[in-house]
Amino acid sequence: MAIWRTSTPLGVTAEHCYGAKMASKIEIKAATPDAFSDSDRARFRDLVIMGGEVGGAILEENIANARVLVTLWADGVMRGVVALKRPRDSYRKKVAGWTGVALPKPEVPYELGYVFIESDLQGVGWSHRLIAEALAHTDGAAIFSTVRTDNARMRATLGKAGFAAAGKPYVRGLNREIGLLTRPRALPSVDAEGR
Ligand SMILES: CC(C)(COP(=O)(O)OP(=O)(O)OC[C@H]1O[C@@H](n2cnc3c(N)ncnc32)[C@H](O)[C@@H]1OP(=O)(O)O)[C@@H](O)C(=O)NCCC(=O)NCCS
Repeated sequence: MAIWRTSTPLGVTAEHCYGAKMASKIEIKAATPDAFSDSDRARFRDLVIMGGEVGGAILEENIANARVLVTLWADGVMRGVVALKRPRDSYRKKVAGWTGVALPKPEVPYELGYVFIESDLQGVGWSHRLIAEALAHTDGAAIFSTVRTDNARMRATLGKAGFAAAGKPYVRGLNREIGLLTRPRALPSVDAEGR
């Protein structure tokens, strides 16, 4: 499998991969929302809705306000998404109240969410690549995510990215039990002598 990376003036990164298993040309593009076209943002929204998230104004707002949108393209078509979200203070406070875990904006500025990959591209680990790309833009800050407690795949993927379950699960919508996961702030790097 050959993989290489390019950068564009917009700060979009792209990964190209021609795998033995996949005949498609796969690209991963990560960029701020304004670097995507209106139709790309609409496609992002539609994929998030396909993944089971509710649409509406808050979805549009969260996409527009995201720190970074990460997208998976197969043969030039957007087929997978992840957002590094900057959630509203009101939502952050609700999640903190439901779970019993404080999520102060200065220490935990981002939420990882809107993860979805179309079914024929699932099962080969693309979520690891998309999530790693999103986490590269946190500047090492702590981050949270909320995921259904029965979504073993997503929870396993987040576990591999350094997230761990935190606080009490809570119930939303039609008996959907949701659990908080958090990933701590990265520790600073030191030299060979530990300085
Ligand atoms: C979540 C999602 C993005 C994962 O996509 P993916 O990259 O194709 O995931 P994979 O099938 O490769 O599985 C990811 C990991 O979970 C593991 N996994 C799969 N099923 C599992 C299970 N039942 N229990 C524990 N781990 C499991 C896999 O082994 C894999 O780890 P590995 O790569 O180290 O082997 C995809 O399933 C999806 O789009 N689901 C619908 C939307 C959704 O649930 N989004 C999350 C909302 S918060």
